[in-house]
Amino acid sequence: MKSYPYQIQNWEEYQEQYARSVENPEDFWADIAQHFHWKKPWDKVLEWDFKTAKTEWFQGAELNITENCIDRHLQTQPDAVAILWESNNPDEPSVSYTYQQLQDKVNQLSHVLTNLGAKKGDRICIYMGMIPELAFAVLACARIGAIHSVIFGGFSAQSIADRIQDAQASVVITCDAAYRGNKTIGLKEIIDEALPQCPSIQKVLVYNRTHSPVSMIKDRDHWWHEEIEKVTQQGNPHFPAVPTQAEDELFILYTSGSTGKPKGVVHTTAGYMVWANYTFVNVFQYQPGQIHFCTADIGWITGHSYIVYGPLSAGATTLMFEGIPTWPDAGRFWEIVDKYKVDILYTAPTAIRSLMGFGLDPLNNKDLSSIKVLGTVGEPINEEAWNWYHQHIGKSKAPVVDTWWQTETGGIMISNLAGVTPAKPSFATYPLPGIQPVLVDENGNEIQGNNASGNLCIKFPWPGIIRTTYGDHQRCQQTYFSVYNNLYFTGDGCLRDENGMYRITGRVDDVLNVSGHRIGTAEVENAINMHAGVVESAVVGYPHDIKGQGIYAFVIFNAFHENEELTKKDILITVSKIIGPIAKPDKIQFVSGLPKTRSGKIMRRILRKIAEGELEQIGDTTTLLDPQVVEEIKRQALPPAFNT
Ligand code: PRX
Repeated sequence: MKSYPYQIQNWEEYQEQYARSVENPEDFWADIAQHFHWKKPWDKVLEWDFKTAKTEWFQGAELNITENCIDRHLQTQPDAVAILWESNNPDEPSVSYTYQQLQDKVNQLSHVLTNLGAKKGDRICIYMGMIPELAFAVLACARIGAIHSVIFGGFSAQSIADRIQDAQASVVITCDAAYRGNKTIGLKEIIDEALPQCPSIQKVLVYNRTHSPVSMIKDRDHWWHEEIEKVTQQGNPHFPAVPTQAEDELFILYTSGSTGKPKGVVHTTAGYMVWANYTFVNVFQYQPGQIHFCTADIGWITGHSYIVYGPLSAGATTLMFEGIPTWPDAGRFWEIVDKYKVDILYTAPTAIRSLMGFGLDPLNNKDLSSIKVLGTVGEPINEEAWNWYHQHIGKSKAPVVDTWWQTETGGIMISNLAGVTPAKPSFATYPLPGIQPVLVDENGNEIQGNNASGNLCIKFPWPGIIRTTYGDHQRCQQTYFSVYNNLYFTGDGCLRDENGMYRITGRVDDVLNVSGHRIGTAEVENAINMHAGVVESAVVGYPHDIKGQGIYAFVIFNAFHENEELTKKDILITVSKIIGPIAKPDKIQFVSGLPKTRSGKIMRRILRKIAEGELEQIGDTTTLLDPQVVEEIKRQALPPAFNT
């Protein structure tokens, strides 16, 4: 028996479903969508026009996503565990919430938000550590129809301020501080530093996680536990889920592009829900009762789709982990797998590569036999890491799914389905039903046939496609829908093998992928240029054994602070302040000039070769304004072997 009516069970069925999704997409998705809870059914399944970057799914329908993630499961499995939580501190007891308990928590918090003045359509910024309350906060926003914008804990006050300003958010939900490994990060303090630049913020709700001292500003800042207490005193009334339209905005998630300013990717309610659920159920082949452990942070799209909305809409048990893979030691993930008997483990290649570096000792005495499915996400996985994961973690029995997707796609786009469709190391393999990938050449011509490579585009909308970039629809249209005529452009390079399997080779634009974190080179350059002594800078990526890509900055500097080393540290601090520690360059080389064309354009191709250590492969420099500068940069280039 199928656990979910639309769960694909074998290769033939995949082929049938795929063909149907292409031939008759509206019926295909309508059949799947009927298994969700709607307050009012849709009038039309799909309306779209890539020219204007408009896509609408399930037009006319009304729903609330939390009724699909919580309420509907109360009839069938109120006592099933919805959320399991493992603390950063291995000695702190774990916590679990059944679907009934989750309902109570989300209802209470929905009242709290409403009492603070939040309402449907408002933007609410969430800046918290990985604690269950973060999931409650996300769901409570959705329940009242507010739009959440979760900001990863590694971003600085300035980045938060930019995001709050862009979204004109009225409420912030945060913690006093967050535990991460052996560090305590003062989240409230960072919020306090951001807020003077954010006049739209009316209220700040603070969850007390670490009992750190914090400043609480009168009338603006409120303690979570005190506000909950007020609701409890009123007898914990039910909070009826606010009806939302299918295309009402569910969340904004900021992500980097090739310009200096991150964009607010907007996902709407119905299509995103169906897509997150469908991909979760099919890629991981989830079976009721299984424990799903996605190690991402909810500050990224992976956490939104595969910790919160995908699993909960499927009635699954989702495991949240507050800490990091290497603290107190490199056996932490394996200890968690053993402790909870995890069935599905979904993590990033960078984590696998870093844990590989500790050898097999951390696996000693850890029972990993519960693992049925392994997944990777966020960056290309090299064969060595794939094999290690498959062999040592999956004991050569658990299928590995290499899932390619993006913040903009809402859910997994190209991936094998665990144990159902074939795997191939370092290949994302075949598209999910509903996804029509095409490879195009530089002129936008489609490259037909197998054994091909080109830029990856998608030629038909799927339910989880980006709807807009917040406050600037034109930017969405230009970035994704006008590079190639009538296609969604992913920004990735890709090849298709002799069997039609896809392998993503990496970004073809100025976006870096550092430890699975997406960072724009222009964003890092802007941050470096904020430093008083910097004249100009150019940032490129280079291959890094663990992080996938490292950040190499070429900097023209005019006023050294005592010496070069101290100046480099000053620059790192500046980048941490402007963007956050995740964007700090791995290498900084001071230069007297940058290779530029006569029209003033920086020749990044040359800098990339230098950063990669390929000094002999630089190619033609005769079109440069000053070819000599290349010789100087080459002479002083930093060694290619990784350093951090
Ligand atoms: O370059 C691709 C890479 O990550 C980019 C998307 O980053 P982000 O929006 O932060 O989302 C990450 C989590 C979905 C893509 O454009 N990427 C993601 N998954 C893979 C990948 N590259 C290769 N293989 C993957 N499985």
